[in-house]
Amino acid sequence: MPVVSVAADSLAYLLGRGAPRAPDRATLEAWGRAVGAVLPRPAVITLEGDLGAGKTTLVRAICGGLGVAALESVTSPTFSILQHYDAAEGAIVHADLYRLRSDVELEMLGWDEVVRDASVLLVEWPDRAVNTLPSDTIQLHLSHDPAARDRRVLRIHAPSVR
Ligand SMILES: Nc1ncnc2c1ncn2[C@@H]1O[C@H](COP(=O)(O)OP(=O)(O)OP(=O)(O)O)[C@@H](O)[C@H]1O
Ligand SMILES: [Mg+2]
Repeated sequence: MPVVSVAADSLAYLLGRGAPRAPDRATLEAWGRAVGAVLPRPAVITLEGDLGAGKTTLVRAICGGLGVAALESVTSPTFSILQHYDAAEGAIVHADLYRLRSDVELEMLGWDEVVRDASVLLVEWPDRAVNTLPSDTIQLHLSHDPAARDRRVLRIHAPSVR
């Protein structure tokens, strides 16, 4: 079986039956690395969830799987909205749209070009941009687990990955 198809099968598994439902941090990170390792390019992943839900933690893990070496540079950006990380197969773009106030600001970022050109695009707080993202965007949602402080409930919507 060709490698590409094995990767696609693995991704479908990871996003389906293989996804942890309420992972602790180590489990979420291991899952994120596995997703990054089999992610096809181009790909767009959105990450939703409250402050501190673990979006950036998961972005960092996915970047690890994608082969980003400088993982300490994967942070919630304070001033910049876009960050770029080097990886062997092309740069990863990490957007955090939390501070975005208007569609005009999105336009000023050159957002349409970012979406068009990014090899892998990871978007925290995507609400402002949902209409601009491709239909095969992988949507991840994290929330605090009311039953356990160190766990997060992970929900996934990835209609086109089977
Ligand atoms: N199961 C877990 N999964 C992810 N993070 C966890 C978990 N348990 C505890 N944490 C901690 O919760 C924090 C999550 O912070 P992180 O910056 O990833 O959240 P965020 O969703 O990006 O927040 P923000 O909206 O402020 O950008 C980290 O300090 C992490 O160590
Ligand atoms: Mg964050």
